[in-house]
Amino acid sequence: MSIATDSLPRKTAWALFIVSAAGIALYSAPPYLTLDPDWSKIPLNGAYVSHLLWVSVHGVPGAVALLIGPFQFIAGFRSRFPKWHRYMGRIYAMCIVIGSVAGFVSALMSTSGIPAQIGFILLAMAWLFTMWKGYQAARTRRFADHRLWMIRNYALTFAAVLLRVFLGLGSVAMAIWPQVTFSDIYLASIWGSILVCAVLAEWLFVSPSPRGRG
Ligand code: HEM
Repeated sequence: MSIATDSLPRKTAWALFIVSAAGIALYSAPPYLTLDPDWSKIPLNGAYVSHLLWVSVHGVPGAVALLIGPFQFIAGFRSRFPKWHRYMGRIYAMCIVIGSVAGFVSALMSTSGIPAQIGFILLAMAWLFTMWKGYQAARTRRFADHRLWMIRNYALTFAAVLLRVFLGLGSVAMAIWPQVTFSDIYLASIWGSILVCAVLAEWLFVSPSPRGRG
């Protein structure tokens, strides 16, 4: 995702991308800085006193990664400020490592039910795996591979944005169709956001020939 920001539709898409990532990061994570259970937006599992702590240790670095990520893909920023790219890349990587381990533990403690927990657990593993592959590629100076793995990684980071968009749409669906439950919406949104982000990233940015794409 070396982003070409030359045309108006591209500029608009790029602006929407940054604004939605920043919006979700700044909206969802700050309450967890308080470590106050009353501010939690998810039901906490009474069996684990540390549940809120794990969700907070997950959500805050997740939000920082969401904020930093887009700038790493701007070719002009990378070439003009390579040191900043490396410095921000290290912060991003640390956020993913901490966020995915804490996300994994949060998933184990989650009250959302086994299908949702499995979605989160697989997502946490894929988040860490793609980060590792991207880091390894950068360390061995395989920059084309580094780019591809970081696109895959950020696509998973961005699933947090799409998840909240789907939950918003889901609340509209619940108002229209009373038989639809919150748990249906939550589960569909988790799996849907992962799938849509992963497929769109492969199709739009990883495929080798953008012009010949079917
Ligand atoms: C991509 C890998 C991610 C995984 C595996 C993951 C996993 C989880 C899990 C398991 C929970 C608890 C949900 C529940 O119990 O129902 C959670 C909540 C949360 N996550 Fe993530 N998450 C990821 C990405 C992110 C990102 C990028 C952010 C950045 C904003 C984020 C921010 C939060 C916040 C703030 C919560 C608390 C619930 C809320 O307020 O919506 N997560 N996440």
